[in-house]
Amino acid sequence: MLFSDRSRYAENPIEEEDRVAFELQKKGEKIIKLSRGDPPSYFPTPKYILDAYIEALKEHRTTYSKSEGADILREAVAKRYRRLYKLDADPDSVLVTAGVSEALLFIDSAMMNEGDRAILFRPYYSLYLPILKTHGGRPIYEEYDGSKDWNINVERLSKSLKRLKADGKLNRVKYMMITNPNNPTGTVLDRNVLKEVVDLANEYRLLLISDEIYDEIVYNKAKFTSVCQLAKGMPYMVLNGASKVFDSTGFRIGFAITPENDKTSLAIREKLYDYALMRLSVNTPAQYAAAEAINNTVEHKRAINTMVSAIEKRANHATKLLNENPLFSTVRPNGAFYILPKIDLKETKFKDDREFVDSLLKEEDVQVTRGSGFGAPSHFRIVALAPQEILDLAINRINKFCRRHSR
Ligand SMILES: Cc1ncc(COP(=O)(O)O)c(C=O)c1O
Repeated sequence: MLFSDRSRYAENPIEEEDRVAFELQKKGEKIIKLSRGDPPSYFPTPKYILDAYIEALKEHRTTYSKSEGADILREAVAKRYRRLYKLDADPDSVLVTAGVSEALLFIDSAMMNEGDRAILFRPYYSLYLPILKTHGGRPIYEEYDGSKDWNINVERLSKSLKRLKADGKLNRVKYMMITNPNNPTGTVLDRNVLKEVVDLANEYRLLLISDEIYDEIVYNKAKFTSVCQLAKGMPYMVLNGASKVFDSTGFRIGFAITPENDKTSLAIREKLYDYALMRLSVNTPAQYAAAEAINNTVEHKRAINTMVSAIEKRANHATKLLNENPLFSTVRPNGAFYILPKIDLKETKFKDDREFVDSLLKEEDVQVTRGSGFGAPSHFRIVALAPQEILDLAINRINKFCRRHSR
């Protein structure tokens, strides 16, 4: 057998409709693609960041960088955490990776033995699962509370952790992952809720990993709290990067930050550093550009404010239109740029969300992503980055499609 057993878990639900879309495009159809969370497709990467990239090339910064990341970028990230969250961050606690994606690969590869566990909250960012499983790990699911605003029901989590402990199942749990602001729900976790989650992680000695890649994409007056503002004296990790907040997905720059100095945190830093050594370096000029993206706070403020206020309008408008559809119920997002309507499938002829999104693409040339790819069956995800007129057109088609197929 050529391939490993684990390789069968390699997949990306977000991209799976791309082949169908590509075939339709070849036939001359124009597809409205609302499936990819790729900000520079609609908000060009700011010029000051591009200039920094070009400058890095002109200065011949084309060698490998240090494996753990160029000093200039690690210092910029540490300073940013001090500025935004008053975290006394040491640049040595910052590992630069090729996107958060690579940090996830390193973490799962470093931590998972066959059958080890990670606690994931549903709906989860879709790539957590295949990355976990291709490294031999298995999920234990907790739930964000969809009956309200997709926050965490702390009482339920507390009971569940107690049960896992009583059943002896916590021993094999390597980490508990949260995503804040969330993809695919757009939820910004409530500070009090987050505090209780941190306390529970501490009580049950769970390594808490908080993926905060959307930390500055927060709107509707919501307030974001980083886990690093609440978790003191316990091991935890924060994942972040340049892709979303610094509008440069294609640069492939991520950060894995392990801020504390306890034995576990230091061991994690060392181990992830060993992983970084194996791939030599992250894209060097992109690291210089990302350092300038972070350090030039005046330009960044301008760029992020423009992007976030556009996203706020687009997401709110799209949510309003979706809520006019009697087949959907939709929680308004307050962060990131995703909307996750729930489909009342029994009022349609579709057996599941996969069939729904597949037919929508084929009949209306609108590409969205099935909720089951995020652990949220009977939902679908829309990326609300496109201009309002495109979102209008797409949602009008979705509503027409629903009317045609509702019972
Ligand atoms: C929650 C979350 N984490 C990680 C990633 C991966 O980002 P990166 O471009 O840094 O690999 C994404 C991308 O959409 C995401 O939504």
